[in-house]
Amino acid sequence: MASGSTISFIPGPVNPSPEVMRALSEPMPYHRGEEFSRMYEEIIEGMKPLFGAEGDVVVISGSSTAGLESALAGFARDRKVVALVDGKFGERLAEISSLYAEEVRKVRSEWGKTPPQEELEASLDGADLLVVVHNETSTGIEHDMDLISDLASDRGVDLVVDVVSSIGGIEVRGDRWRAKALVGGVQKCIGAPPGLAPVMVRDWEGYGGAPYYLDLRRYRSSAVGDLKQTPFTPALPLFAALRVALREIHSEGLEARFLRHHKTAELLREGLEDLRVELFARSGELGKLSDTVTSFMVPNPEVVRRELAKRGILVAGGQGPLKGKMLRVATMAGITEEDVQLLLSELRKVLRSEISPEVLP
Ligand SMILES: Cc1ncc(COP(=O)(O)O)c(C=O)c1O
Repeated sequence: MASGSTISFIPGPVNPSPEVMRALSEPMPYHRGEEFSRMYEEIIEGMKPLFGAEGDVVVISGSSTAGLESALAGFARDRKVVALVDGKFGERLAEISSLYAEEVRKVRSEWGKTPPQEELEASLDGADLLVVVHNETSTGIEHDMDLISDLASDRGVDLVVDVVSSIGGIEVRGDRWRAKALVGGVQKCIGAPPGLAPVMVRDWEGYGGAPYYLDLRRYRSSAVGDLKQTPFTPALPLFAALRVALREIHSEGLEARFLRHHKTAELLREGLEDLRVELFARSGELGKLSDTVTSFMVPNPEVVRRELAKRGILVAGGQGPLKGKMLRVATMAGITEEDVQLLLSELRKVLRSEISPEVLP
């Protein structure tokens, strides 16, 4: 979405709408009073359909990683964990789990491809918990969570899902996946400023031993009852902004929003194909191309990125081992088809003039 003369296609934080940003400067309510309680209740109820589940929603003041650690510290502790690792954020789930778990087995593949289904199935034997990123932001793969969650539940393996870069843009089906917990992000498809971590716990059994600030049971205790509160001082302006972002989402309607994300991503993929630009990620047994992040390869990606930035178009580079190897474009939150058209036409100019005329028709 546009900010001044710049359009950001960074896969989060996105630029929130002006109304959401305005909420940041509203007078702050007393965080132990009724006004905040009403705000928090609206956020909790507004988040449930996004998680696709009925469960306990709490919001931690901290980035999404705080939410991930709060869930993994409690559910992975002393357990045998399997982590699906085909990108940076899968690796992160494995890393956090390893601080708490008895053992972490990684089911790996080259980043941008998903591992074979049979490898995941084999690794689940004797495991207690599977941890998966729904939408791998570093590569642009949406994992097939219907399939993966069935593989886990058929074997009695619990599931924790990172839905940070899918929630609000791609359907999340927490109840269908029978997930113990799901951890979201507000700064991507929800279109709010960064700094809050919404977490849904569907089933508390087995949760225990999380660090003091990240113990989700404290958040639940404060959020039940007549006065909805957080156990520690909440980042009040961020809550106010999140409330407005959720109102915008529900007035658009979830189905319409998912369809919009799908259409903008399709337009982008088709446009890249017209430019004969090769997509980086590959669909596989366990996942397909994401509707919120698209990764692709161009000659000299960092030069292309800088040239686009000079033209007011911000795109992201690769992360970790993919740095300098590809570019990533988000179609999240407020990004429109017109924004994507503009990106494609600027990309065409950059590729034609600056980089490599031969890649163009
Ligand atoms: C899938 C995924 N998980 C986790 C994170 C970490 O989020 P944060 O930096 O807000 O802690 C990100 C951030 O990009 C992400 O895309």
